[in-house]
Amino acid sequence: MRDSLIIALDFPNKAKVLEFLQPFEQEQLFVKVGMELFYSEGPAIIEELKMLNHKIFLDLKLHDIPNTVKSAMKVLARLDCDLVNVHAAGGSAMMAAAVEGLDAGTAAGRKRPYCIAVTQLTSTSDAQVSQEQLIGVSLIDSVMNYASLAQSSGLDGVVCSPHEAQLIQSRLGSQFLTVTPGIRPDSSELQDQKRVATPKFAREQGISAIVVGRPITRSVNPLESYLTIKNEWKGVYK
Ligand code: C5P
Repeated sequence: MRDSLIIALDFPNKAKVLEFLQPFEQEQLFVKVGMELFYSEGPAIIEELKMLNHKIFLDLKLHDIPNTVKSAMKVLARLDCDLVNVHAAGGSAMMAAAVEGLDAGTAAGRKRPYCIAVTQLTSTSDAQVSQEQLIGVSLIDSVMNYASLAQSSGLDGVVCSPHEAQLIQSRLGSQFLTVTPGIRPDSSELQDQKRVATPKFAREQGISAIVVGRPITRSVNPLESYLTIKNEWKGVYK
């Protein structure tokens, strides 16, 4: 899990995914399956990716009453993914229930998936926190509060911005996972990400794993872009 480069498979269907993965035959990847792909292809896409020997982050961001999340996680655990997630805004009882569900659904002798929490979405602004959520503290304080709640509820870490990771680890310990999207190598475009960071910056912050989508999936040479970003992330320079 640590030091992983997770590729976001933000594609509409299996055909596009398999076309993208073709040049990666020799690589064991860690891939992220989000709502678009999972809702379009169903659990079979997870089986398919596992048969190709890839590790999987199933990014469905569960948020419901504790009993529903527990039951859903029990079912998802059977898919034998490596990492799943919930929204911390669901509360401590819901997060604890998510872990209980994962434990209950994980087959004997298998390791349960790591479970991490989304604190505040990176698309959420300071103004939304105060004017829409009516939270009386700053965005970063709300992120820290949710991260701390996730830890005390038994979760393994959080999804966060690369700029929040160091503070989270200094308060909650380096064992607590920080998984960060919004990674852009110097040369690539921002797309709709606002607060971005390079793979090198992510490594220097002690971030546990980075999630990279378009700089690899939309590249003219995805394998080359993947290897370049991976080397920068791992601190290997040729
Ligand atoms: O293409 P890009 O590198 O921006 O993709 C980042 C991935 O991380 C996308 O799948 C996006 O949904 C996801 N993500 C994010 N910010 C979050 C949580 C997830 O960008 N806070």
